[in-house]
Parts: sequence; structure tokens; C-alpha cells
Amino acid sequence: MPQTHAIYAHPGEDLLSAVLQQFDVHDDHLFNITRTFLREMWDGLESYGHDMAMIPTFVRSTPDGSEKGTFLALDLGGTNLRVCEVNLHGDKTFSLRQQKYKVSDALKTGEATTLFDYLADSVDAFLTDSGSPTCALPPSLTPRDLTEASDPVDVHGSYIPLGLTFSFPVEQTALDSGKLLTWTKGFSAKNAIGNDVVKLLQDAFDRKHMHVRCVALVNDTVGALLSRAYTSGGCILGAIFGTGTNGAYVEDVANISKLGRSEEVKEGGLMVVNTEWGGFNNSRSALPSTPYDKKVDRESINPGKQGFEKFISGMYLGEIARNVIVSLIDVAPKSLLFSGHSSKQLNKQWGVDTAVLSEVEEAWEGIGRFAPEDSSRQPSVQQKLERIRDVIVRRMELPPDSVSLDDADIIRKICTHIAWRAARLSACAVAAVLVQTGRARLTRGDEEAKNTVTLVDEGKRIGVGVDGSLVEHYPYFEKKLRASLRVLVGDDVEHRVDIGLAKDGSGVGAALCALVACRQNITKQYHTVSEHEVANGLPQSLGPENSTCLDPLVRT
Ligand code: GLC
Repeated sequence: MPQTHAIYAHPGEDLLSAVLQQFDVHDDHLFNITRTFLREMWDGLESYGHDMAMIPTFVRSTPDGSEKGTFLALDLGGTNLRVCEVNLHGDKTFSLRQQKYKVSDALKTGEATTLFDYLADSVDAFLTDSGSPTCALPPSLTPRDLTEASDPVDVHGSYIPLGLTFSFPVEQTALDSGKLLTWTKGFSAKNAIGNDVVKLLQDAFDRKHMHVRCVALVNDTVGALLSRAYTSGGCILGAIFGTGTNGAYVEDVANISKLGRSEEVKEGGLMVVNTEWGGFNNSRSALPSTPYDKKVDRESINPGKQGFEKFISGMYLGEIARNVIVSLIDVAPKSLLFSGHSSKQLNKQWGVDTAVLSEVEEAWEGIGRFAPEDSSRQPSVQQKLERIRDVIVRRMELPPDSVSLDDADIIRKICTHIAWRAARLSACAVAAVLVQTGRARLTRGDEEAKNTVTLVDEGKRIGVGVDGSLVEHYPYFEKKLRASLRVLVGDDVEHRVDIGLAKDGSGVGAALCALVACRQNITKQYHTVSEHEVANGLPQSLGPENSTCLDPLVRT
């Protein structure tokens, strides 16, 4: 059983308030954290090897909704693995067919080849289940007989192109290659770090003689950014608040000084940068660590890493709450919770899921699954606490008579404090991106800039695509984030920030990247095919249907 915090309550001491106050983040802290965030962003843009990796993605532009095509996408996130077939209709809409597969702990922590073989098997199963692998794909994507192609590996027509959304820190070297820097979110598969994940996947496809080619690699944040841009016509930031947290934004290439004098820098323009902000402030110099955070970090499989993520994301909030709860059960000389009772569930590391916190807050607010049929009848405080008590009994597996309504109220406060802190810290990340891209100034301490610098896109909407269980399901997460964002960047900018759910962003983003990859590959073939074809449009071998894949992506 993991150790708990030993707390001794002195007579008359308001221990509960003292514990809860540790989770308050005051406005001054918000500003300090945002400034530190901006400094760490610059460190990551300047050179390699920083906490915030600030990874150049080689995505040079964002879509405008006119892109067309059907692509396979494979999405390995934190909790699930999904295979999707995405059909971009070219009018800001898309349709998607998908299948989810579970990734067991054994796969997460075993050999990398076993994990990647499983990914390939899932794609195989998806294609087989849908009948013929090509039944729903346009003819241009039909796998032709391999023997027809002289060099099948280099000829797209022989393969179904697939975009891989791989939601871990990967140092990209091109649109279709990148080395895994480290695992996060409970993964630790062996012999993967330092290797090219596209190659690991392609080798697995090849071992199974599958006619699938991984043409693009994308982080889920980049997927959220691209898919939101596709459906809404413009987006500068894609952010995930789910099992993990991270953001990708559109940066001026000139600011990515670690790219040196590469082709990209010479070309100038913009590039999407995957910040890997989950690793912000691993030193904890600015983050408001409580003893509970320190314990959760120490007992995690990556102590000292993913500092920011461990304060914010769905993987950790439940575990922080569990530690607070157990410490209050253990208070001596008199327990503060459940008359000193605990349960197997509460004693187990990861025994409380963040979804439990969400359910407690829904029960209190009377929303979601607790929304009343007749909204004119407001429940009493007692009724709300009774609902919370039911959630506790069920989800924490405690005997009903050990949970009082006072206990329910304490649990509610713990959940609210932890979630508020997560939302406030999330706002710092969003504010930092707005400041970094010249769209906002901090409302405090930026006096000089206020008079001299004009804002980019003044008066215009600022598109932000978000995805993840917290932002989608946690009660009022966005509202709380926005309240802190207002403090940081002011009402006007906050008002113009248009936060939209990038539903299925990982799949759609991977499809959009696969499209870019196809376009680049087609362009490569152009030069070797004939100058005449370049002048007249497309290589005939690819057929007119593919012309839609060639729509240039627009710059934001
Ligand atoms: C973790 C991963 C990151 C991903 C995020 C959200 O922070 O390192 O790549 O984007 O989780 O899934």
C-alpha cells in the first residue's frame, strides 16, 4: 500500500482549510507562471534538450476547409488506440468511420515491437472488418498489384496512405519521420526511445505484408489545430486537456532559432510548433507544488518529468485527490473523513479516476447525468450532498454508513479546488501562446509594451481548437480557464478567443497531414515524370480524383 501523509491536527486547528488553501493559485502566481512559461518557450525555441521541447513539426500552413480526400488515420493517444477512415469533403465538413481498440498495460510497458505489431494488427482488423480494404476508399488509393510497380515502396498508388497521430514527444525531422524523445502518460515500452516511430510502424506493416504506408506523423495537438482550422477556417493553437496536456501553435519560423540555417528558415514563413508544454517547469521553480503533488510525482513512473502535466491532466487529478482524501482519513488524533474508514479502492495507487471528481461536481451542480427533468425545481443542499454521497459510496467502494453528508461536502471541496487549480494553470499556457504570437499582452507588468507594440490580429477572432476528456466533460473547465485568462490578458482579448472542440481532431489532423504528404510526394514525382505534366497540372498516373489533394493549404 502506498504511504500516506502523516498529519497531526492540533486542537482547534482548521486543518481542512489549511489543506485546501494549498491548492489556491493567486493572481500574482498566475502572472509569474505565465512569464516563466514564456521564458521556457524561448529556451526551447533556441536550442534542443529543454523541458519544453518546442518541437518543429514541418507543418508550414493550416487548412482552410477546402481540402478533399479519404485517408486512413491511426491514433495512439493515452487511453485508447483508434483506427479511422476520414473523408474530408472539402466544404469544412468530414465524415469518419472508426474503431477503438484497448491498449493493455502489458502493451504499454512491454517490448516496442509488440506494441507496434498490435497497432498494425488493429489497422489490419479495421480494413478487414470493413470488407475490402478499398471498398470505401477512392480509386486513387486502391492498392494495385505490387508487381505492377517497379519500386513499390516509393509509389503511393500501390499503398493506402496512412497518417499516424502519435501523442508523445517526438523530435520530428520531417513530416514522415521523428524520434521518440521519451514516453509519457504511463507508457514505457522498451526499445522505442531514440527510434523513428514511423519506421517502427512501417516495419510492423511490412512484417505483415500490408499495403499500407505511413506517410505522415502528427501529434494530437497538431491534429486539433489542423482539424479546427479545417472546420472553422482559422486556428492558431491546438490544445489537449485529457489524459495528458499539451499545445501546438503557429510560430514564425524566424523565431525557431534552433533550426539554424536550414531550408525552412531560408524559406521563412510559419511553422506549427509542438510545445510539449506538459514538461513545462520540471524544476517546479514556479509551479505551486503541494506535498501531495510531490508524492504523486515521486510514485509515478517518470519522477521529475512532465511537471505541468501532473498538475493539470486527467491522468493525475484523481490521484492527487486520492492522496488528499487518504491523508484526511489518517489525520490523528481524530480522522477528518469517513470516521477513519478507508477502502481497497482508496488505498490503491490510481484507485480514484478523474471521472469520479467530474461526477462529484456534476452531482453538486445538478448537470450532466444529474440534470433535473424539471429545471424549475431546485434541489436542496441536502439533496445535492446525498447525491455526492452515493457517488462516493459507489466509486470509492466505501460502506454507506461510513460516509456522512459532511464527508460528502469535504470531498466536493477537494474536487473543486484541484480542478480550479488545473484550469487556472491551463490558462497560463493559453495566455503565454497569445503573448508569444503577439496577440495579447499581460495585463500586469507589460506597461512599456502597452504603449509601443500593436497587437497582431487586433479586433479579430482568435481560433483555438481543444480536445480531451477534461475540456469536454469536466464541469465548467473551460469557464474556469476563461476566468483566469481574462485576468491575464484582459477582457477584450479573452472575448475574442474562440475556443472550439476539435472533436475527432486526431483523426482529421492525421488525414490532413497525410494529404500534405501525398501532395509533397506527388510534387516529387512531378519532377521526375515530365516537365509537360508540371505545366499542365497533375501526373496522369494519379488520376483526376487526386487533384483535390493538391489544393494548397493556406497560411494563417
Ligand atoms: C503528453 C504527450 C504529448 C501529448 C499530450 C496530450 O503530454 O507527451 O505529446 O500531446 O500528452 O495527449
